[in-house]
Amino acid sequence: MTTVKYSLKISECESYEAMSAQAAAYFVKQLEKNPRSVLGLATGSTPLGLYKELIELQHAGQLSFRDVTTFNLDEYVGLDREHPQSYTSYMYHHFFQFIDIHPGRCFIPNGAAPNIPEEIARYETFMQQVGGIDLQVLGLGTNGHIGFNEPGTPFTQQTHCVELTEATRQANARYFESLDDVPKEAITMGIATIMQAKKIVLLVTGKNKKAAFERFLYGGVDPEFPASILRLHPNVSVYYHL
Ligand code: PGA
Repeated sequence: MTTVKYSLKISECESYEAMSAQAAAYFVKQLEKNPRSVLGLATGSTPLGLYKELIELQHAGQLSFRDVTTFNLDEYVGLDREHPQSYTSYMYHHFFQFIDIHPGRCFIPNGAAPNIPEEIARYETFMQQVGGIDLQVLGLGTNGHIGFNEPGTPFTQQTHCVELTEATRQANARYFESLDDVPKEAITMGIATIMQAKKIVLLVTGKNKKAAFERFLYGGVDPEFPASILRLHPNVSVYYHL
């Protein structure tokens, strides 16, 4: 069987810090070219170093988020925005409170909305209205998920509500008091939404991601491993440190 890596640009980084710094430099270039960029943001442990770097770069005057708009990939259903484990809280605590971004231009799905289908439609409409995402950052789940698009998600899905798999709930239980407290559903940008981003940065770090990363690079393009679709995207930069 032959495997093709398509147009992925892959950078092996010597440390987590180096990976974060290289990805941050890519963001700096993006904002130099277009200060009004629409950024797609991710949560989880992987992008924390990237956000730290970007905060430092902004404080050093190397970039500004003044005219930037952001859309987050996903949010748990059933958690208020103020809940400490909501992704709204995560973004505020790890990134937004430290940068010069306009709070009205930071979009995150509202997982506590009374009508989730309406919230999903609203979110997707906002994204289309601003012309879609210019640069999307992604982490890689051990099961190949991107956003909360679990194995088996059709590649054609736009933003939607998903039932989280047991593997994902267990992986995220470290942030909650017990597994029972981890929400069972989430709103997530779909694979089609992600694939519409003009550029994608995929960050992969940690020994527990080794098998997933190999499958991403060398396995088939298969909905059972959602990240594999990225190999068909024309502009993906991968920064990894395993
Ligand atoms: P992590 O999660 O960054 O916390 O490893 C990535 C993911 O599951 O998408």
